[in-house]
Amino acid sequence: MTSLATKFTGLEFVNPFILASAPPTESKRKILKAFDAGWGGVVTKTIGLHPVENVAGPKTIYQRTSEEKPYVSRMKRPDTVSHSSWNWELISDQPLEQWLPDLKDIKEAYPDRMVIASIMAGAGSEEEMDNWRKLATSCVEVGCDALELNLSCPHMDRKDMGAHVANDQEIIRSILKAVTEVVDVPIWVKLTPATSTLVDAARAAYEAGGSCISLCNTFPSLPLMDPETLKFEAEVDGLVTSGGQGGLAILHQALLRVSDISKAFPDKEISGIGGIRGFREAFNFIVHGAGNLQICTAAMEEKGSGGVGVKLIEELKTDLVEYLERHGHDSIEAFRGIARERIVEHSQVRRKSDDYNGGYLEPTAAE
Ligand SMILES: Cc1cc2nc3c(=O)[nH]c(=O)nc-3n(C[C@H](O)[C@H](O)[C@H](O)COP(=O)(O)O)c2cc1C
Repeated sequence: MTSLATKFTGLEFVNPFILASAPPTESKRKILKAFDAGWGGVVTKTIGLHPVENVAGPKTIYQRTSEEKPYVSRMKRPDTVSHSSWNWELISDQPLEQWLPDLKDIKEAYPDRMVIASIMAGAGSEEEMDNWRKLATSCVEVGCDALELNLSCPHMDRKDMGAHVANDQEIIRSILKAVTEVVDVPIWVKLTPATSTLVDAARAAYEAGGSCISLCNTFPSLPLMDPETLKFEAEVDGLVTSGGQGGLAILHQALLRVSDISKAFPDKEISGIGGIRGFREAFNFIVHGAGNLQICTAAMEEKGSGGVGVKLIEELKTDLVEYLERHGHDSIEAFRGIARERIVEHSQVRRKSDDYNGGYLEPTAAE
């Protein structure tokens, strides 16, 4: 029988599909249900040490579109399909002290599934580095297989956290130094896609000891306003702020970011995230170099699954096995990264005539 077992960042996954850090992994109950359903691993909802209080309204909305009048809205209408999620949920409000026994129990119940603890603290002071150290050591002590550093949540209040850190290389290096000094497990680094310095940030993370880049977190964005009610589809007292878009609508942008990193660091590991709903999207991340796939919105949206994607993981596994068998492949390694060299500069793509000179009248000095 074809095996979906995958080695990634030195860890053995029973299959490459894992639930991303988000509501599907926010509690012991949900994580156990996810493992029951067959997920190869989870990245826990991000655990921190600072006070967390979410907005006084819905934290997440699911936006849908339809063939007839194909506008995007959370509004319930017949015959719609998923377009994206939008959320402004903060990191976990469950304290570390409660997470630790839960993580231990989860790992004991499912020793063959990978538990990656997502953690987040601030930046710019030794006190914050101590917070990273504390989070890292406590999660590893209770059996977590790896850590994912959340440097990418697009809507934290504090300016020294999440995407506000804006892929600052010095901050990335300082956090990785703090964490790698105290633990000896693979460190995954989840960066924000919303900067022009993503590749430099990835370099800093890999050089400072990061085992993989996890990409993408949600993209900073606004919810839509209803033309009739003049309400935003998510708001509190008429106000809204930048939140994060996930789901199918971010797939193409996420693939470009993954491809950028994969081309710059072809030998390094990438965990692909953003808009995966089934095998075809997962396949696209793999051909750009991802060796592991994380899923959030599609799992949350699956009705009757308690928000953990019970049918989804079954389908992902079945479709991947079917593809591998039909093509005579042993594992995803057979097609991982095959698109890498086919992503080129615009100027490298053939034109209809031979005399086009890349937008210049005459050949440039460099030619
Ligand atoms: C409601 C919600 C909460 C999330 N919370 C976190 C979080 O705590 N930490 C984190 O790293 N990412 C968080 N994410 C981002 C997801 O892990 C994932 O990167 C993103 O949703 C893109 O994947 P998707 O297109 O499969 O949804 C959250 C996403 C959603 C929708």
